[in-house]
Amino acid sequence: MRTHLCGQVTERLADQSVQLCGWVDRRRDLGGLIFIGLRDHTGIVQVVVEPDSPVFGDAEALRNEFCVRIGGQVRMRPESQWNEAMATGKIEVVADRVELLNASAPMPLMMTDEDGEEVRLKYRYLDLRRPRMQRNMRTRARMYQAIRHSLDGKGFTEFETPILTKATPEGARDYLVPSRVHAGQYYALPQSPQLFKQLLMMAGMDRYYQIARCFRDEDLRADRQPEFTQLDIEMAFVDEPDIQALAESMIREVFKDTLDVDLPDPFPRLSWREAMDRYGSDKPDLRIPMSLATVDEHVAHVEFKVFAAPANDDGSRVAALRVPGGATLSRKQIDEYTDYIGRYGARGLAWIKVNDAAAGLEGLQSPIAKFLDERAWQGIAGATAVETGDLLFFGAGEWLTVSTFMGALLVRVGQDLGLVQEGWAPLWVTGFPMFEWDEESGRHMAVHHPFTAPLEADPESLIADPGHALSKGYDMVLNGAEIGGGSIRIHRPEMQQAVFGLLGISPEEAQLKFGFLLEALRYGCPPHGGIAFGLDRIAALMSGEESIRDVIAFPKTTTAQCLLTSAPSTIPDAQVAELHIRSLDEE
Ligand code: AMO
Ligand code: AMP
Repeated sequence: MRTHLCGQVTERLADQSVQLCGWVDRRRDLGGLIFIGLRDHTGIVQVVVEPDSPVFGDAEALRNEFCVRIGGQVRMRPESQWNEAMATGKIEVVADRVELLNASAPMPLMMTDEDGEEVRLKYRYLDLRRPRMQRNMRTRARMYQAIRHSLDGKGFTEFETPILTKATPEGARDYLVPSRVHAGQYYALPQSPQLFKQLLMMAGMDRYYQIARCFRDEDLRADRQPEFTQLDIEMAFVDEPDIQALAESMIREVFKDTLDVDLPDPFPRLSWREAMDRYGSDKPDLRIPMSLATVDEHVAHVEFKVFAAPANDDGSRVAALRVPGGATLSRKQIDEYTDYIGRYGARGLAWIKVNDAAAGLEGLQSPIAKFLDERAWQGIAGATAVETGDLLFFGAGEWLTVSTFMGALLVRVGQDLGLVQEGWAPLWVTGFPMFEWDEESGRHMAVHHPFTAPLEADPESLIADPGHALSKGYDMVLNGAEIGGGSIRIHRPEMQQAVFGLLGISPEEAQLKFGFLLEALRYGCPPHGGIAFGLDRIAALMSGEESIRDVIAFPKTTTAQCLLTSAPSTIPDAQVAELHIRSLDEE
């Protein structure tokens, strides 16, 4: 039907005739002369229909988003009308054929960034026509190609694992599928292919990868979808440095191939403890040139209990955040930040404006300056390298709570003050705790997942002090987003039993849920480990999008609905009966 794509029509085709297909992006009637912006997935080309043209009437009838085929002669535009920003900006096509392939009903959306998300998702097939969405989808596809190319070159084999399966715990609720044939029994959709990839290592497959759909029923946010895609990787006979080196090299190749970006080599590393101490986050955004300082030793002696108590307590801290030039912040802005960190459990936010750094306590403006002495202030000033015109924020209290709310503040202030630098800042975070204590259920939960190996080699010492145990887990972080996470796995049945026990999973329950894994571990399981990357998140970062919904062709809303197909939906009674489901409401 066509000789060229719209975006290919450049000055190289001057004086040639072309046949093009696409949609009317915009039609302008300039008193007798009609201009049509003809759009396909490669770009937009300007078509001109002259008043004496035999196809003038056909062109007049066109409206936005009509689907057309246009034939004509490529002509250079007068130099004064060149648009250097477009590949097609120096030419226009003088139409001698305007064939309507299909008209369009009036558009339900404007096809601009002004469209609301609801209408965009309902008419996703129209939203996807926009150049921005076309670009995002194709960047994602290029990334997939680069991934396969890289891993195929590193001795990996691509696998598929079941979607109808048994529950895999990754910390979310399962999506369940009732069985028609086995009344009262259910499949779970995988939260990840975790157990299958481990079984493939036991099967001697050595290096596995899969671009895998994962399903998690959890509270959704901009960076979470109920179904999302992982690049899932597993390797046998490896330890942490082997996997990290491989994953890093793959990600570097993928960024080079997809975006022509050179990521640092090697990536910096922080332990979880350092990351929380310095950035108040397990996924710090290293593009923001600010960090937290611990000032416990400088305020341990002051009268001010809010500071002195945590400064003298092992599980607590007093953290300071230096905001360069922050003395210009208004009371109102400071109050807004105080409210903001309240959501992260902060009960207050102390601050000091430094009007004259050379004047000691005299140079400060602050509701808490009166509680400090010169010694405390000099210590704080040294630890934060504060200068005239800066502001210091302070958080005091339990170590994790303070670190978390000060970390949230760091990011928020960094963004508000435009301090986030351009570029790419990847890093590894390692040395995570094995368990976290869950107040609600009164038991330990796995920080990564229950198959992650502890640093401790023997089960007895792990059981002796689980609260302080660290794991062989690691996350890859890019520009403040957790883009991947993995671990060395437990490869001995005794250790796996011990970890299940610490997680409050009884031997009977372990047998019922993971009996096949415990058994498989008995037949010469090799040491193994791996990682999974969130491809939606990486694609969003690559495309400069805030939300992963903008890099997924047909995403769901934050309430897990598909507005296009209206899923989830009710089903006919006959189907309900066939699946042996009964609603509790009916009883
Ligand atoms: P984890 O649960 O950390 O690890 O997931 C790996 C990566 O997947 C991405 N991710 C998500 N992306 C979009 N929407 C979601 N709801 C979502 N949840 C997670 C994140 C995350 O870093 N089996 C282990 C991996 C392993 O140990 O090898 C796992 O699934 O980018
Ligand atoms: P108060 O003694 O509660 O009036 O607090 C005095 C100052 O300390 C106020 O500016 C509070 O915002 C601040 N503040 C109170 N609790 C904390 C805390 N946990 N961390 C940091 N600052 C706090």
